[in-house]
Order: sequence, then C-alpha cells, then structure tokens
Amino acid sequence: MIVVIDGPAGAGKSTTAREIARRTGFDYVDSGAMYRGFTYLYRLHGFDRSSLLKKLADHRLRFEFHVTDARAFHGDREITDEIRSDSVNERVSEVAAMAEVREAVRHMLRKVSKNRNVVLEGRDLGTVVFPDADFKFFLTADPTARARRRYEERIGRGETQVSLEDVRRNVEKRDHIDSTRDIAPLKKADDAVEIDSTFLTFEEQVTRILEHIRNTPEAHNMTFTRI
Ligand code: DC
Repeated sequence: MIVVIDGPAGAGKSTTAREIARRTGFDYVDSGAMYRGFTYLYRLHGFDRSSLLKKLADHRLRFEFHVTDARAFHGDREITDEIRSDSVNERVSEVAAMAEVREAVRHMLRKVSKNRNVVLEGRDLGTVVFPDADFKFFLTADPTARARRRYEERIGRGETQVSLEDVRRNVEKRDHIDSTRDIAPLKKADDAVEIDSTFLTFEEQVTRILEHIRNTPEAHNMTFTRI
C-alpha cells in the first residue's frame, strides 16, 4: 500500500509521515533524502553538472528505509548525516531542479516502494511519481502558522538572531519558488485529501490521516501495528 504526503515547506510533513509510519508499521520513505544524496554526489564532482549527469546511470547511492529509520549510503560509506550538512542544504534545490535527477529519483522511489507498505513524503509524489497511490494527502497550513512553527523550532534550538518577520518572508519566498518552477512544481493532486493544519494540533492532524486510511475498504483486511 502506498501513502503519499505532499505539501509546502514547514507544513510538518516529515514529523507527520514518521508518526504515521510508527503507528501503522509502514516504512517511512523520505524522497528529499534522495535529492540530498545526489547533491552529495554533485559536491564530490566539484559541482560540475555534466559530471553529475554522467554518473546517473551508475551512481552507487543506496537508501534503507525501515519504519521511521532512514539511512543513506554511497557505496559502502554511510552518508546519512552528511546529506543534512550546510553544504548540501545550500545546493539541494539546484539539484532538485535538474530533470535528469528527478527522473533518477522517480525511478528509485518506485523501485524502493514496490510490493511494500510505505508512507512517503515529498512535493510531487501524488502528481508525478505515484499518480496511482492508494492514499494521497496534501498537508498545508497558512504561511504565518508555518513561519511561527519554524521560528519556534529555531528559538528552541537556541538561536537568538532570528525574527518572525524574516522567517515568514522566507517561507513565502520558498512557496513562490516551489509552486512556480517549471519542473514538478508543488501542486495538490486533484484526488488528494487536503489537510490544513493551521488550527489543528499535531495529534489531530495525524488522527485525520489515520482515519482516512482506516475507513477505506482496502484497509479492512490489513493488520496495523498501533493505528
Ligand atoms: O524535504 P527536504 O528539505 O529534505 O527536500 C530537499 C530538497 O528536495 C528541497 O529543495 C525540495 C526538494 N524535493 C523535491 O523537489 N521533490 C520531492 N519529492 C522532495 C524534495
């Protein structure tokens, strides 16, 4: 069974997808980690686009997803932490805009999800990668609520030089870039269930998704761990 959760930056897709995985026993698949893996390769190739593209047929990237645990490897080397480094953060949107990389990621996502119960998180999963997914959710919240959550996260991490207004401007800028780019723009699939979490608690938002899954005929003969 394939469950996809798409939505804009800061809507809480990762935490939600992981919680759904924990409660269903499905495996959480992080599509952003794959774009990050290719960005790691891009860095290894001196940020040279044509050398990266030449490597796409034999890239040696591998991802392991087990319930909430997601790990990345390049050959035998584990790169789970490295794909979250600042140098990858800075260039990942450039790599995610390359059509050839998107095609490679699409292929890997389909392969990794074949004959498995998975919950995947991304931007274009319901529209492009899994148009036939069993469940499609589009998670949103208004920009001010998303900015406030990001702001509180950063304050919680001990940052002091951060203003709510700057964070809000940044969220709006990313929304604009994500939804107007030519390749795989962020867009709700027509048949996705939209969940606006502006006025929902985390638990309410997770419960809504689980109820949708549980109340469908496909779910009746399935065993979930703790749904
Ligand atoms: O969710 P994240 O921050 O790990 O995503 C990393 C980058 O990959 C971000 O620039 C958005 C992009 N991305 C995408 O274009 N399509 C996806 N399905 C997932 C992520």
